[in-house]
Amino acid sequence: MRFRTDAIVVATLLAVQSTASVIPQSESTDACGQIYKRSSSAGNSSIVRMPGELGLQCLQSMPFEPKRAVAWVKEYRKWLLFQSDLEILENPPTDYHMPATDLIGTLDNIEKRAAAKDYKNQWEFDTDVKNMITSAYDGHLGVTMCSYLIAPEAMRYTNDVPLVSVSSNGTAIPKVYTFADAKLLKSHKDRVSPIVSINGADVVTYLEGISLTTNAQDRDALYNTVFPSNPVSIGVGTLNFLEGSGLFSNPAIWPGANHTLHYANGTSQVVKTVLEVKNWQWKSGKSLYNHWCLPSSNSKRSLSSLKVSKRSSDSKGPSGYPTPHSSTLDFSVMSFLPENSNLKDAAVLAIPTFEWVFGQPDVLARDFIVKAAKEGKKKMIIDLQGNGGGLISAGWNLFRLFFPDQEVYSATRFRAHEGINFIGEAVARLPINNSDIKDNILNWKENVTPDQKDGFSSWADLYGPHEVFGVNSSSLFASNLSMISTAASQQISGYGDVPLDPKAQSFAAEDIIIITDGYCASTCTLFTELMKAQGVRSIALGGRPQTGPMQAMGGIKGAEVMDLGNLAQILSDAKKLANSSSLLSDEDLENWDKYVPSPLSEFPYAMIAAAVNLLNSFGPANDTVPRQYIYEAAECRRFFTYDNIVDQETTWASAADAMFYGGGCVEGSTNGTGSLFPASV
Ligand SMILES: *[C@@H]1O[C@H](CO)[C@@H](O)[C@H](O)[C@H]1NC(C)=O
Ligand SMILES: *[C@@H]1O[C@H](CO)[C@@H](O)[C@H](O)[C@H]1NC(C)=O
Ligand SMILES: *[C@@H]1O[C@H](CO)[C@@H](O)[C@H](O)[C@H]1NC(C)=O
Ligand SMILES: *[C@@H]1O[C@H](CO)[C@@H](O)[C@H](O)[C@H]1NC(C)=O
Ligand SMILES: *[C@@H]1O[C@H](CO)[C@@H](O)[C@H](O)[C@H]1NC(C)=O
Ligand SMILES: *[C@@H]1O[C@H](CO)[C@@H](O)[C@H](O)[C@H]1NC(C)=O
Ligand SMILES: *[C@@H]1O[C@H](CO)[C@@H](O)[C@H](O)[C@H]1NC(C)=O
Ligand SMILES: *[C@@H]1O[C@H](CO)[C@@H](O)[C@H](O)[C@H]1NC(C)=O
Ligand SMILES: *[C@@H]1O[C@H](CO)[C@@H](O)[C@H](O)[C@H]1NC(C)=O
Ligand SMILES: *[C@@H]1O[C@H](CO)[C@@H](O)[C@H](O)[C@H]1NC(C)=O
Repeated sequence: MRFRTDAIVVATLLAVQSTASVIPQSESTDACGQIYKRSSSAGNSSIVRMPGELGLQCLQSMPFEPKRAVAWVKEYRKWLLFQSDLEILENPPTDYHMPATDLIGTLDNIEKRAAAKDYKNQWEFDTDVKNMITSAYDGHLGVTMCSYLIAPEAMRYTNDVPLVSVSSNGTAIPKVYTFADAKLLKSHKDRVSPIVSINGADVVTYLEGISLTTNAQDRDALYNTVFPSNPVSIGVGTLNFLEGSGLFSNPAIWPGANHTLHYANGTSQVVKTVLEVKNWQWKSGKSLYNHWCLPSSNSKRSLSSLKVSKRSSDSKGPSGYPTPHSSTLDFSVMSFLPENSNLKDAAVLAIPTFEWVFGQPDVLARDFIVKAAKEGKKKMIIDLQGNGGGLISAGWNLFRLFFPDQEVYSATRFRAHEGINFIGEAVARLPINNSDIKDNILNWKENVTPDQKDGFSSWADLYGPHEVFGVNSSSLFASNLSMISTAASQQISGYGDVPLDPKAQSFAAEDIIIITDGYCASTCTLFTELMKAQGVRSIALGGRPQTGPMQAMGGIKGAEVMDLGNLAQILSDAKKLANSSSLLSDEDLENWDKYVPSPLSEFPYAMIAAAVNLLNSFGPANDTVPRQYIYEAAECRRFFTYDNIVDQETTWASAADAMFYGGGCVEGSTNGTGSLFPASV
């Protein structure tokens, strides 16, 4: 029952640069060797910098094996059929603001190209697969192809010019500056100038193009990913403002050899792309391919060589935040009792991720909510900037800490198809104490109707299928919350053997606000939807430089990311059982391999991670349109000021001002479609 989002922004560049034609073949053959030479002469343990093109050329010197690629596509297609909304993506409703995409059709084309030996190297093939995945803009859908594991795991493209989008006062339309220039805006406004174009294209258009290479489902949320953000750095675990966030200066994809920035004052600057490597061990494209792409090498791979340590015990708090009143070691939950005059009345809970593991986040949140109310704080600000999801029980529990007398509403469906049907039937026969199926969504016995009152009579009863919004879908169901809630792992206050604590509501709904940067995905959306249903308002920050509303929840609103590695274990158990019992007919057994994918370890390429959005989630008002297809404007929107970017306390103060004390929202951003107070039509 782990509901996660692939929060780490690893994206593919669309047609921003056509790379293959730029690199002469003769140069590309020994690029890996050149990297090796430069790296080993500089000392292997230090980060070595060199021209960015070498990285791309090295990746492009990997071989391509058409047969292997075709075999991979055939196997991966079976996985892709588990994606909850394949048919809707092909023809989405107008409420959905991203382009339509036909994932299976695109995969078919990739297979054809591979069979026709149309790819020159593995990188080209991987890039096509990655672009296909990106086209769904779904943070729960992902597959790590080897080229996109090498960069950013063993090499990284970077430039030293992060950009920011800054408004003079939070409601004025923002402009794009280099981060260094934005710093000077207050003291030397006359010396700096905003960027008006990049590589000859309008700056906003260009940056929007970059933003479309990552996986939020909202264009404002996407736009924010181009710029660095302290909350996002905590959410993705790098804890470093200028690393791991901000697609312009730290792309995980090839960004082109250079960028020419044109400033409003008529000057321009060329920013070169730099390649960083550490411990580089590969002298040729072939050896790189053998190590990272072939399945036998799975265990040899050393991950995280370039990664900054995830956890810190610095009690001062992460960069950009004031010293917390209390905090978990990983800063997944931080509490504040700020001094700022706009915040005198307010308590702040900053929760940049629901990956709650270290230091009893549940207890910390509970104690703080109760204490803040006891000490007379009237307002509660929940800062969910950077929150790409995590454990769903964490989100459900947090909701119950705020609203102890309200039930958790959950309603989901999976895409009904042969593969999942085989597995569900087989799992139904596994002993309930099998650890792989405990807390597993495909175990029908653990699922109930959304009101938690009734169970299902069989797997077939759960499976359906029912045609829902053009998708053959399961019956509407929820996890049995009493069953999954245990004090040990997935506590949900007042469910199962976890006592209800606190017993009384500490803050009125109208005194609670949620702040997001649009990045909110997965568990973050499930929590925010529950809070919204109680009347809690949201304020969305940043986005494209235009007036009008912005969504607070711009990430996937699906209810479970299914990690394929995890599913594979269930598969292997189910298959064993299916074969040894009379559960499946001979014909079924023959069909098994046709519909049920192999475990990742048996794939033709090394696969360290792959996932699909297994479950669509539905609100109480509509059980046919999945939540990610319903537009929901936040109740208010503000742009980032420079201070907001470097000092979270100022963000909380401007949010409080806008939401509680009549301070302004961006023009036209209130009473938007899908908000708590939509303008009457
Ligand atoms: C770096 O590693 C390579 C291969 O492991 C080795 O041959 C070389 O001597 C090392 N260079 C330094 C400076 O340690
Ligand atoms: C913010 O700046 C804009 C543009 O300069 C101005 O029109 C607006 O009145 C300002 N808002 C506030 C609250 O100062
Ligand atoms: C123009 O703007 C850029 C970017 O802020 C700045 O670096 C440069 O010094 C400015 N040049 C002049 C002549 O003002
Ligand atoms: C920028 O990169 C292109 C190749 O993409 C190259 O032709 C051009 O010379 C580079 N410009 C500078 C100033 O480095
Ligand atoms: C699971 O339960 C069955 C029946 O109660 C028992 O025979 C079996 O040993 C149990 N298996 C494990 C792994 O606990
Ligand atoms: C949910 O699980 C609990 C605890 O195992 C069980 O007592 C209850 O009957 C289940 N609910 C339904 C509707 O099946
Ligand atoms: C749904 O499943 C039925 C069989 O149960 C099939 O006949 C029908 O074509 C499917 N519909 C879609 C939209 O896939
Ligand atoms: C079932 O077991 C038989 C004999 O062990 C084996 O040949 C066959 O491949 C298995 N079938 C499946 C679907 O696992
Ligand atoms: C859900 O929304 C769809 C699309 O707007 C609509 O056709 C359907 O009637 C709605 N269902 C309910 C129960 O309101
Ligand atoms: C917007 O919503 C607020 C809060 O309910 C309400 O007071 C205001 O009248 C609404 N404005 C419009 C234009 O509907």
